Amino acid sequence: MSAFLNAAATSVATADSAEGPACAEPLPVLGRDVTVPLVTGGEVTYAALDYAASAPALQRVWDDVAAYAPYYGSVHRGAGYLSQLSTDLFEQSRVTVAEFLDCRPCDQVVFTRSTTDSLNLLAAVLPADCQVFVFETEHHASLLPWTNAQVTYLNAPRTPGEAVATLERALAEREPSPSSSSWGDPKGPALVCVTGASNVTGELWPVKELAAAAHAHGARIVLDAAQLAPHHPVSVQDLDVDWVAFSGHKLYAPFGSGVLAGRADWLQQAEPYLAGGGASRKVARREDGGVDVEWHTTAARHEAGSPNVIGVYSIASACKALTEAGFDSLVARERHLIAKVREGLAEVPAVRVLSLFGDDAPRVGVISFVVDGWNSSHFAAALSAEYGIGVRDGLFCAHPLVRTLLGSEPQAQGECGAPEAAPGERSLNAIRVSFGAGTPDEHVERFVRAVQELVADGAKWQYRTEEGRCVPAV
Ligand SMILES: Cc1ncc(COP(=O)(O)O)c(C=O)c1O
Repeated sequence: MSAFLNAAATSVATADSAEGPACAEPLPVLGRDVTVPLVTGGEVTYAALDYAASAPALQRVWDDVAAYAPYYGSVHRGAGYLSQLSTDLFEQSRVTVAEFLDCRPCDQVVFTRSTTDSLNLLAAVLPADCQVFVFETEHHASLLPWTNAQVTYLNAPRTPGEAVATLERALAEREPSPSSSSWGDPKGPALVCVTGASNVTGELWPVKELAAAAHAHGARIVLDAAQLAPHHPVSVQDLDVDWVAFSGHKLYAPFGSGVLAGRADWLQQAEPYLAGGGASRKVARREDGGVDVEWHTTAARHEAGSPNVIGVYSIASACKALTEAGFDSLVARERHLIAKVREGLAEVPAVRVLSLFGDDAPRVGVISFVVDGWNSSHFAAALSAEYGIGVRDGLFCAHPLVRTLLGSEPQAQGECGAPEAAPGERSLNAIRVSFGAGTPDEHVERFVRAVQELVADGAKWQYRTEEGRCVPAV
């Protein structure tokens, strides 16, 4: 591995370059014993290999939620004992998340619905005339929310170093914005949005170097940690990012909450994301008949409405569970699984693994590939129906990146997924296998064997196309 890649790997997570203690067992997750029928007869335990979309709940998270559920009460404005207990748990969850992310003391943790929601919230609080810089390789959640800003889409880099150089060049060349005179930086406000780990290739991005480049040019940076946080420790202070966004359902806490954590100033200066109760401190009728509102300046400003207490509590529980399990051992175990999958796929010449930064790039347990002569939907359907393995096929809500990697043209149809090709035709989409802290060796071993058998022997069953997807014919 080159010195730079080594540096890039350590820049997102120090645990990645250390050997780290081996973690013998996967963490217990819900559904680990669930069996599913095979079209060819019989049943197998379900191999959930779609963690990048949604990871199963950690048993520990489920147990914590179940233990709390009888004590559940309305938060913040309730006078009863359970309301006060729930309020304490809710507010304590903020502290737990801040610790998990190693936030600065003055950072705010805002609870949202998801990463998408968090990034849309940040987009809604951008200062006037803010310029946004985003690589075309981003997930749509990071690529698309900036409709009210002047966005510069940066071309896909082919090395982490090229990513940093591309960003530096774009920031250096940016024109002063109309409000530059009233802004601290001579060119006005700017924001860079970057993913920590790709949801397509699993590759780690040089976040620390990109943050340094952004700051050197007077810009701020938000880290999309949707795929990074479940696999690696994320330190806001060490990476020196201004905000971090992630989703509970990818962090083994699938109860509908997400997080935006980081600098308070832009959040406090903007209008509330949603107007309503909870965000407002004082509301009074004016003599002219209108209404005066005093909004909170804490995280509550952007949390109007009754919050998802269970969702928030479950995220805090997951943060604690991962921290207690230890990222050193989680990373070591995941590397062992990644090696098994990559080595297994490398033995199949028909398989092409998609990569932006090359074989040596540090990565998390997210691997996308195509199989020569196979429609990806057909392949994924056969993995499910004949082997009980749940993967994903499509463009993974990162259309520009997957098309760059496949070298294919945009399709006429197919939002977030479904290919149009009939079974047996070559696909314009890819297959993604992804795993994490709850994945036993047997799941990835079964997956590798299944790929090898399908390529060697073909599918054992007939499939047909239904609404753009391949499904077993019977
Ligand atoms: C890198 C990345 N960012 C953002 C998102 C959006 O997450 P959510 O759907 O939880 O909002 C995803 C989801 O797959 C993702 O992989």
